[in-house]
Amino acid sequence: MVTRRTSFCSSMKPLPLRNISILLIILATFTTPSRARDTITPTQPLADNDTLISSGGDFALGFFTPAGTNNRYLGLWYHKISEQTIVWVANRDEPIVGSTGRLSITPGGVLAVADANTSAVVWRSANAAGRLTSPVAQLLDTGNLVVKQDGDGSGTAYAWQGFDHPTDTMLPGMKVGVDNRTGRNSTVTSWRSKSDPSLGTVYAFMDPRGNPEIYIYAGPKKIWRSGAWNGVRLSGSPDTATYQDFSFSFVSNSDEVTYSYVISNKSIVSRLVVTEERVVQRRVWLWESSQWSVYWYAPKDPCDKYGVCGPYGTCDPNNSPVCKCLVSEPAFAPKNPGNWALRDGSQGCVRRTALDCENGTDGFVAVSNLKLPESEDSVVDMGLDLDGCRRKCLMNCSCTAYAAANISGGGSGSGCVVWFSELVDIRSYIDNGQDLYVRVAAADIVPTPEQFRKSKRATVAVTVSLLLGTLLLACVGCFVWRRKKKRRVTLGVTGTSFNDKSNAASREHDLDLPLFDFDTILASTNQFSEENKLGEGGFGPVYKGTLENGQELGVKRLSRTSTQGLEEFKNEVVLIAKLQHRNLVRLLGCCIQGEERMLIYEYMPNKSLDFFLFEKGKGALLDWQTRYQVILGIARGLLYLHQDSRLRIIHRDLKASNILLDKEMNPKISDFGMARIFGGDETDFNTIKVVGTYGYMSPEYAMDGVFSVKSDVFSFGVLVLEVVSGKKNRGVYSHSHHVNLLSHAWSLWREGKSMQLVDELIGYSYPMDEVLRCIKIGLLCVQERPEDRPLMSSVILMLSSDIASLPQPKQPGFAARRGPFETESSTSNQDSSGVNDITVTMLQGR
Ligand SMILES: *[C@@H]1O[C@H](CO)[C@@H](O)[C@H](O)[C@H]1NC(C)=O
Ligand SMILES: *[C@@H]1O[C@H](CO)[C@@H](O)[C@H](O)[C@H]1NC(C)=O
Ligand SMILES: *[C@@H]1O[C@H](CO)[C@@H](O)[C@H](O)[C@H]1NC(C)=O
Ligand SMILES: *[C@@H]1O[C@H](CO)[C@@H](O)[C@H](O)[C@H]1NC(C)=O
Ligand SMILES: *[C@@H]1O[C@H](CO)[C@@H](O)[C@H](O)[C@H]1NC(C)=O
Ligand SMILES: *[C@@H]1O[C@H](CO)[C@@H](O)[C@H](O)[C@H]1NC(C)=O
Ligand SMILES: *[C@@H]1O[C@H](CO)[C@@H](O)[C@H](O)[C@H]1NC(C)=O
Ligand SMILES: *[C@@H]1O[C@H](CO)[C@@H](O)[C@H](O)[C@H]1NC(C)=O
Repeated sequence: MVTRRTSFCSSMKPLPLRNISILLIILATFTTPSRARDTITPTQPLADNDTLISSGGDFALGFFTPAGTNNRYLGLWYHKISEQTIVWVANRDEPIVGSTGRLSITPGGVLAVADANTSAVVWRSANAAGRLTSPVAQLLDTGNLVVKQDGDGSGTAYAWQGFDHPTDTMLPGMKVGVDNRTGRNSTVTSWRSKSDPSLGTVYAFMDPRGNPEIYIYAGPKKIWRSGAWNGVRLSGSPDTATYQDFSFSFVSNSDEVTYSYVISNKSIVSRLVVTEERVVQRRVWLWESSQWSVYWYAPKDPCDKYGVCGPYGTCDPNNSPVCKCLVSEPAFAPKNPGNWALRDGSQGCVRRTALDCENGTDGFVAVSNLKLPESEDSVVDMGLDLDGCRRKCLMNCSCTAYAAANISGGGSGSGCVVWFSELVDIRSYIDNGQDLYVRVAAADIVPTPEQFRKSKRATVAVTVSLLLGTLLLACVGCFVWRRKKKRRVTLGVTGTSFNDKSNAASREHDLDLPLFDFDTILASTNQFSEENKLGEGGFGPVYKGTLENGQELGVKRLSRTSTQGLEEFKNEVVLIAKLQHRNLVRLLGCCIQGEERMLIYEYMPNKSLDFFLFEKGKGALLDWQTRYQVILGIARGLLYLHQDSRLRIIHRDLKASNILLDKEMNPKISDFGMARIFGGDETDFNTIKVVGTYGYMSPEYAMDGVFSVKSDVFSFGVLVLEVVSGKKNRGVYSHSHHVNLLSHAWSLWREGKSMQLVDELIGYSYPMDEVLRCIKIGLLCVQERPEDRPLMSSVILMLSSDIASLPQPKQPGFAARRGPFETESSTSNQDSSGVNDITVTMLQGR
């Protein structure tokens, strides 16, 4: 029996195109001037048709016109690379419109950009304060345009330099920060758009207060902070410390607080750029392929966003939910438990046990591997050690935490930072994080082994409490076990109660789920009008609904005739009502009226993943960062299903059309119609009814009807490879039915040519290590033998590990031999670009 159905919402209208392309591609043909010079003097200005070339030929300065405009700007670009990449603009806010420009230097040493026609000056550098008698402006090989006295060598203080006035790019050697001597505060601000270098909304700057940090704002909103310098790296970007050819330096004294970097290898062309879309990136020019590649970017994951988990909350991207209190209950508890449960942690946690500063009984709890809290109100004392730091914090009743300020010497570190306000914007890392000592009341301190020995009385007390704890645990265990038994029974009862029409009230109670009023749904979908119809599936049509208060819904209306659909409906309601995770589509309620049965979901404006991956031309809307977030999100959602939810669930029908995308392109797993709950002791199942989708089914499931969490892992692996390649796991290489995506990926991997798998539509820039890691993880997940495939918990870890530490994948299932499904698939579904997948239900004769 073959059922055709659409995934819920799969034909919704897409959002307006997201701005996906990252690179500034301003292609201009510029003729090499007959004589290259690198200076201008008062008698030799720079004409519009001329350029300055730095002595080593690395940079060029001249006028340019962004594509599609009539505006002329003075800018600076790399001379040796093929793609004109503007790294600095003089008159970014004052273009010369419809005319030509001229750059000149006054006898007093002031640079001026003027309209060559009208001589109207659009930009001038600061006054050189009359120090110069014979000024010259020179373009240096670092990309710095400097004004100095003619004849002065390098190393002299310049009267003016372009490096003090960055636009959107930080070049090696450029210092970003504040200078107390000159009052300079250099800010790096994005271009407004690709063709408009004027000030955009995203900017980065140094906040020198407390323990200095770099901030990124988008308009008035704080987006990201770098974390303070800890002697080794910026504590909020631990990955940057691993770059070998890259060294950062941080200067913090009474004269200046600045941050800069140098590149030891001259053949590496690298820049840090602030963009409207991606905020901040490090890009490196790849000479072999003549393109920019993104090596690093921030913010990188949900926990990088400023203040996600509020005061005293900490964010762990590999956990679900991501937020937890810095110190667990009873010391701290969520401030707003309702929102917290709904995965909104922004209000953070509050202290439950009051501190007792007067009597001096407070202590500290150490929390490891963190990005330290925002430190504008903190106080740094490099002269203290950790013990002195602790005392300093204890002495002041408003002190909330302390940490080492310098970890470069190893051990527990030296120096001291103390915080005097709420602790905000904290996250955890797998490694390379720092220890934070959080002040708590005496009652909340878990004694350390040394403290055990100090007092016999304490030992006794602890033993007693340990005993009590064990007892308590045993009781809880007992209770959980009993509840579990009970729940399994309840599930069965709930299932049957659906057939009993008269039992609506108890059903609602069992499900613990809002029961929507039929008339409300009727009104919200405009009497189930054709205009509101989003798609038609095997279970029946899906409609878009809008409630009176403006809330948008997805309404899945079960066909009255479909008995199979009814079963799946029951299954889905019971299952999904108990699940809450930001990577699972949320069921808002259901509606039952007479014969009518409906599921009410949150509305997903961006359709499903297959639309973006496989519809012609749509792949360009998914850049690498989005694809990576999608992979991570699916992995987290699946981990939640497999391990973290109260029920342990195998999805059984994971595929691109079942991954819905919200307005921020966050993936949400949907369609639990096929899912099965498994108990703690069961590891796999045998079934005579094989359900699933060609191309995503693991070999052991398709052939023998055996399914386990590892069958979902297989489907996940297929999805990962599809996301990377933008190709469907079958029907794509139609000229050869024997080759599917898995075997294609596998042979490329063995030949060391995996980068050929990557979707060309991703664009030119992506971090290669991340892409290769994903391909390797995909291959590990689709290995033939289920026991070789990793669990989702390992997959999550692998996604943030070094590629070299991952095991070598073995041959994928269905790669070499021709499974029965490949034979069949080549006849049953030729349509490789179709949005709708075919879900197969097959009775195996066994
Ligand atoms: C620039 O244009 C002027 C005339 O407008 C011409 O005399 C000069 O040779 C040109 N310079 C270059 C480098 O093409
Ligand atoms: C620039 O000068 C030329 C010649 O003097 C003139 O034809 C042209 O209209 C001027 N353009 C502008 C924008 O003023
Ligand atoms: C530096 O500039 C940024 C952005 O304009 C501003 O928010 C910040 O307060 C300035 N810092 C100082 C020390 O003036
Ligand atoms: C800047 O200089 C003034 C006076 O020299 C000093 O009081 C102040 O602390 C300095 N600021 C910083 C951030 O070091
Ligand atoms: C510099 O980088 C280039 C290109 O990545 C590499 O081929 C070369 O070996 C590097 N040189 C040194 C000294 O590391
Ligand atoms: C300090 O200790 C005294 C005596 O144990 C107690 O009565 C008092 O409540 C404590 N102070 C605070 C603020 O807890
Ligand atoms: C505690 O520290 C704050 C912030 O540095 C300071 O304003 C306050 O005077 C200190 N209080 C005591 C008692 O030292
Ligand atoms: C940090 O510690 C290292 C090693 O102990 C030391 O060499 C360095 O000077 C310290 N940095 C500061 C700013 O104190």
